Amino acid sequence: MAPRSARPTLPQLLALVAVVIPGPGGAQVSIHPKEAFLPRGASMWVNCSSSCSKSHNLGLETQWPKVELDHGHNWKLFELSDIEEDSNPLCFENCGPTQSSASATIILYSFPERVELDPLPAWQPVGKNLTLRCMVDGGTPRNQLSVKLLRGEEVLHQESVDVDSMNPKEITTTVLASRDDHGANFSCRTELDLRPQGLALFPNVSMVRQLRTFDLPVTILKLDTPDLLEVGTVQKVMCSLGGLFPASEAQITLELGGHTLTSKSTNHRDLVSATALVTAELEGTQQLRCVLELADQILEAERNLSIYNFSAPVLTLSQKEVSEGSQVTVKCEVHGGAQVVWLSGAPPRPPSSKTQFTLNASAKDNKKRFFCSAALKVAGQVLLKNQTLELHVLYGPRLDEVDCLGNWTWPERSQQTLKCQAWGNPSPKLTCSRKTDGAPLPTGEVKSVTREMNGTYVCHAVSSHGNVTRDVFLIVLYHQPNSWVIILVVTMLATVLLVGGPTIYLYNRQRKIRIYKLQRAQEEAMKLKAPPH
Ligand SMILES: *[C@@H]1O[C@H](CO)[C@@H](O)[C@H](O)[C@H]1NC(C)=O
Ligand SMILES: *[C@@H]1O[C@H](CO)[C@@H](O)[C@H](O)[C@H]1NC(C)=O
Ligand SMILES: *[C@@H]1O[C@H](CO)[C@@H](O)[C@H](O)[C@H]1NC(C)=O
Ligand SMILES: *[C@@H]1O[C@H](CO)[C@@H](O)[C@H](O)[C@H]1NC(C)=O
Ligand SMILES: *[C@@H]1O[C@H](CO)[C@@H](O)[C@H](O)[C@H]1NC(C)=O
Ligand SMILES: *[C@@H]1O[C@H](CO)[C@@H](O)[C@H](O)[C@H]1NC(C)=O
Ligand SMILES: *[C@@H]1O[C@H](CO)[C@@H](O)[C@H](O)[C@H]1NC(C)=O
Ligand SMILES: *[C@@H]1O[C@H](CO)[C@@H](O)[C@H](O)[C@H]1NC(C)=O
Ligand SMILES: *[C@@H]1O[C@H](CO)[C@@H](O)[C@H](O)[C@H]1NC(C)=O
Ligand SMILES: *[C@@H]1O[C@H](CO)[C@@H](O)[C@H](O)[C@H]1NC(C)=O
Ligand SMILES: *[C@@H]1O[C@H](CO)[C@@H](O)[C@H](O)[C@H]1NC(C)=O
Repeated sequence: MAPRSARPTLPQLLALVAVVIPGPGGAQVSIHPKEAFLPRGASMWVNCSSSCSKSHNLGLETQWPKVELDHGHNWKLFELSDIEEDSNPLCFENCGPTQSSASATIILYSFPERVELDPLPAWQPVGKNLTLRCMVDGGTPRNQLSVKLLRGEEVLHQESVDVDSMNPKEITTTVLASRDDHGANFSCRTELDLRPQGLALFPNVSMVRQLRTFDLPVTILKLDTPDLLEVGTVQKVMCSLGGLFPASEAQITLELGGHTLTSKSTNHRDLVSATALVTAELEGTQQLRCVLELADQILEAERNLSIYNFSAPVLTLSQKEVSEGSQVTVKCEVHGGAQVVWLSGAPPRPPSSKTQFTLNASAKDNKKRFFCSAALKVAGQVLLKNQTLELHVLYGPRLDEVDCLGNWTWPERSQQTLKCQAWGNPSPKLTCSRKTDGAPLPTGEVKSVTREMNGTYVCHAVSSHGNVTRDVFLIVLYHQPNSWVIILVVTMLATVLLVGGPTIYLYNRQRKIRIYKLQRAQEEAMKLKAPPH
């Protein structure tokens, strides 16, 4: 009778050793197979046979469900099922009066039911020890089972599970967390080595757990901001921290008066920073806060910002342009809590919100700059704001000795510059000309002096504010002619007299005759013209 081959576990019967237990009278019973290595819960066939000629009551003793599949003259084939533990089934028989038996050894193997790595902390600080704990439940034979704790593929710890160890078995190891461990995958792996039984190495792996590590420096957050802000201005504030890890996971926020500011954050290497623009709207004190969150840590920094309203002092002149001699009122005023601390030209007096004084405008006040300075005390600091104004004084043309020297005495042929300048606001126009012939005076340029320049000049400065004149005497010094030149001149004069004497007499006589003739001609003409009597 062929054994039923429906059970897939049958081929796993490993050894076939018939054991003969000699019974009295030579009768013997044997069991086949003698040893079996099976997965837990499997079924197997067991053949009990006997050499007894009058065999009866051949049976199998086992705690597992059994079914007789077949039998022969002196054998019986059983199927054992749902084998849950290592056990020793026993074949027995009564041969006549004697009973004999034979047992087999069944060894079971099973994969761990649970290989579990304990959850890792959400965030692990760098430089602190981390304990990895793995629970292994089940798995037999235990002396062929080992457990590994892994970081990626790197074995951190390995141990074999002892035969008599607790179930579930706990395996632990510690690792000193580093920045490199951020994102590392930890796992636990069991290996059931069934190669001695001709099978393979069977691994079972736990769920992979990824670690996140962080590192926060002990330094405090750096909050860059001015403490004083002027109403209506926009100020950039910045908060930063260096040396932290992982910078990319850090969240940094800026808050003003409890409201989150729209900020731009950057994470670069181990530096994280956020910048925001603060618009100062209302006078008063506002709290600026910087909050950095990394892992389960929160770092904070805060500063009190004083927002002030300070407009520059209002400096006014009663007239911006005045004629010389008129009165001008200079006034400086401030609003709010500020005070005028200084007004140029005014006598010193205690700070007040308004200061003024009057001055008689003179020519020297033209283009004078008046300066007013106001101060505001904010959060213990004194702020200054200034204002300046320029006064314009109109004054008539000035042409005095200092600006235009009246007497110049120059040697002929020397190089000279005649300086003559008229002053006034508006600038006067200056013209100089010789009294005798109106020849212009060569002012302001280097000239080679000639005796023709000699003379008395009159200079005239004109502006819309009047006119002035001034005489300028220019005397050119030149050498008298040498004595021989005089002799030559005298000789020539004498010659002219000697030679020219009679000529002059003749000339005069002729002239007199001509005059007489002319008179006669005129008398004749009168007679002709006169009407007849
Ligand atoms: C059981 O064993 C006996 C004795 O060895 C043998 O004759 C018989 O054929 C076996 N039965 C089966 C089904 O193998
Ligand atoms: C362990 O591995 C075996 C074979 O690789 C598999 O059949 C079994 O389901 C695994 N057990 C667990 C708990 O993953
Ligand atoms: C971490 O554990 C190791 C031993 O496992 C120990 O030598 C070391 O001092 C511990 N380090 C810290 C920072 O706790
Ligand atoms: C860990 O596993 C995740 C997902 O499987 C993978 O993206 C990551 O690269 C692994 N980390 C390392 C360090 O290999
Ligand atoms: C800000 O001002 C508040 C009260 O006005 C004070 O309690 C706090 O200490 C100040 N903070 C700083 C950083 O000066
Ligand atoms: C600032 O002060 C000026 C004058 O004192 C006032 O007109 C203005 O409204 C103030 N602005 C704010 C925002 O307080
Ligand atoms: C200004 O002029 C007025 C008269 O024109 C005179 O009374 C006053 O003293 C002058 N003031 C100064 C500061 O010279
Ligand atoms: C205002 O005047 C003060 C003192 O005279 C000076 O220190 C400051 O720089 C001036 N500020 C401006 C804006 O001109
Ligand atoms: C220039 O000199 C003459 C005499 O040479 C003198 O009378 C006159 O006052 C002088 N003028 C000035 C402005 O010095
Ligand atoms: C030169 O000019 C001065 C005054 O400008 C005058 O007194 C003098 O006579 C002049 N000399 C000559 C030689 O014309
Ligand atoms: C110069 O001023 C006088 C009065 O001082 C005036 O009569 C004359 O017209 C003015 N001449 C010119 C050219 O402005």
